[in-house]
Amino acid sequence: MSAAIASATTAAEPFARILGVGKSFGEPRGRFQTIALQAVEYDIAQGELVALLGPSGCGKTTLLNIIAGLTTASVGHVEIRGRRVTGPAEDVGFVFQTPNLMPWRTVLANVMFPMEILGRAGPAAKARARDLLAMVGLSAFVDQRPMALSGGMKQRVALCRALIHEPSMLLMDEPFGALDELTRMEMHDLLLDIRRMSATTVVFVTHSISEAVYLADDILVFSARPGRITQRIRVTLPYPRSAATRYSAAFTQLERQAGTALGVVHPDA
Ligand SMILES: Nc1ncnc2c1ncn2[C@@H]1O[C@H](COP(=O)(O)OP(=O)(O)O)[C@@H](O)[C@H]1O
Ligand SMILES: [Mg+2]
Repeated sequence: MSAAIASATTAAEPFARILGVGKSFGEPRGRFQTIALQAVEYDIAQGELVALLGPSGCGKTTLLNIIAGLTTASVGHVEIRGRRVTGPAEDVGFVFQTPNLMPWRTVLANVMFPMEILGRAGPAAKARARDLLAMVGLSAFVDQRPMALSGGMKQRVALCRALIHEPSMLLMDEPFGALDELTRMEMHDLLLDIRRMSATTVVFVTHSISEAVYLADDILVFSARPGRITQRIRVTLPYPRSAATRYSAAFTQLERQAGTALGVVHPDA
């Protein structure tokens, strides 16, 4: 095969593949066994934002941890760029529900932490950390401790920390769930801006229908435990998305579709 054909083939391949993933906790068939996930199958396209939408306890965090290589699947596996995930992947950034900043470190030092672990904490990394903090509007706070920041600001620091090593994939586990609504909407636009600039592939866990519709290219709706994908919703809302997007008829229609798939909106309502 010529090099040109080989690279064209690679470009068409999904960025990541979730292949028949299931997960149980506890003794197999034991009294306390929990089946968290069942037969999850999905291809993640390069540069897309996929939202995992489902009720509490349906296995969203478990699936994200399996993609990150932090948890092993009981059956099936995940591939990233054609390689099977067997442990924590360096090429991934993770944002959790809570910022988990180290209170004794400055904002800049918190963002630099992953680079220290990777042994790459030189001046170039520091400059990048400052650039990221500027991008999220925190230039004035680089030398402050987390205590001086609001919840939204802390989560912006956590986002910079997840991006500092230029991961090709960002995994986000209900990252804005604890924020007030206005701050959450600001964070949505910030995330969409970051994506536009970096073409990062994002897997975003949420139980908020409107958040999933606003952010995603693709929504995977999960059933209650054991979590299975019950519906895939393609979100064709144009970019850039803005406040006007949230009030469009197409947005409401997608919210209704997702709500129906979740069983919270009656199809005839
Ligand atoms: N380490 C664990 N040991 C036992 N059960 C777990 C563990 N992690 C998750 N579970 C169970 O698996 C199910 C899915 O959990 P989780 O992935 O956290 O759901 P979600 O993030 O959608 O709320 C839940 O019933 C939870 O109690
Ligand atoms: Mg969770």
